[in-house]
Formats: sequence, structure tokens, C-alpha cells
Amino acid sequence: MKTNIAVLISGSGTNLQSIIDKTASGYLPANIRCVISDREDAYGLERARKHHVPAYFIDPKKYETRPAHEEALMAVLQEHDVELVVLAGYMRILTKHIIDRYRNRIMNIHPALLPSFPGTDGYGDAWRRGVKVGGCTVHFVNEGCDTGPIIMQEVNFIKPDDTFESFKARGLEIEHRVLPEAIKLYCEKRLVVEGCAVKILSGR
Ligand code: GRF
Repeated sequence: MKTNIAVLISGSGTNLQSIIDKTASGYLPANIRCVISDREDAYGLERARKHHVPAYFIDPKKYETRPAHEEALMAVLQEHDVELVVLAGYMRILTKHIIDRYRNRIMNIHPALLPSFPGTDGYGDAWRRGVKVGGCTVHFVNEGCDTGPIIMQEVNFIKPDDTFESFKARGLEIEHRVLPEAIKLYCEKRLVVEGCAVKILSGR
């Protein structure tokens, strides 16, 4: 049985593309039921439409409060019978309102090795700090900023001749592998949340 997922984006959507491709190839046992953006000009909406996935722009400015915006978002999730929500470059912090309803069913990719460098510029913050090892983290979303239970991490070693651009480009390639892998584990019901950790059950 395939798992119904929604992907939330704010920008270019290269992570979304990796999920689309890995779903199309059959690697991911998931149906992408909808893509939702908080920005009208997000290129990821185009990527969704090209693959005949329903794409929505839900304008935060149209709502007085964040929970009211999330209510509109949840109406779409419910309409599409979504089980797992994947934040793939969604640049908006979610409130308890939606997190409670989808507890341990909202997954985010963050471009740094959490708990180091939370926030909106993981690559930039890590690079400016002069780390020797960068990477990315997939975690379930809780009420904090990038503080939820960690599902997977992969490292991105800094090379002597790296520039910020090469570091980030390699990091994005890693993200495109790790996020689908974490979604796959969810679909296979192999993720068990234990406090702030996630245990991965071995496959059959
Ligand atoms: C990624 O680096 C992701 O980790 C971060 O935002 C970026 C989104 O890139 N949260 P894209 O829209 O998937 O290309």
C-alpha cells in the first residue's frame, strides 16, 4: 500500500523534484497527492504541474493569524487524504495548531547537522563558521525551531578547494538522496519516535 504524502515548498523545489522522480521510478512507495507553496512564484509549483500533481498557492497574507493560514492548509491536506507532510524548503515556521494534528507526521529537511546551525541559513551559517564537516538532517517537526526528533543525517566533508557554491551544490545532492530515503522509511513504517530520538526498525 502506498502512503499519501504532501510536499510543502517555498522555492525552487529541487528536493521536490527528487521526490517526484523517486516516486515515478517506483523507489518510493508514495503518492504525491498535492504540493503546497506559501509563495506564488515558487518554481516548485511548476515542477508539480508538469507531473500532473495538484499544486496550490496558499497566500499567508490572506489570513490574519498563522493558525488561520494553517487551517486553510489542513483543509487541502484533508481533501487529499494526506498521511505524511514533507517540508522541502518550506520557509515558514509551523505552529502547535498544525503540529498537534500531524504529530510525528511532518518531516523537514534542514541543510546542516542539527543541533548545530538551526534557522533559515544552514549552509551559510556552517560555511561562515568554518566547519570542516557540514551535512543535512531530516527530522520530525515539533514546536521548536529545527528541534524535532532526528530521523537521518548525512555528512558533507569540506574539501580543501571548496568554495561556498561547491559546498552547497554537493550538499544539495546529498539532500536529494537523504530526504527520499527518510520518506521511504516512513512509508515502510520503520520509524519509531522515542522521546527526541527516532529508532529505525530493520527492513525485512
Ligand atoms: C534546501 O537546502 C533545504 O534544505 C532548505 O531549503 C532548500 C530548498 O531547496 N530548507 P529546494 O527548494 O528543494 O531546491
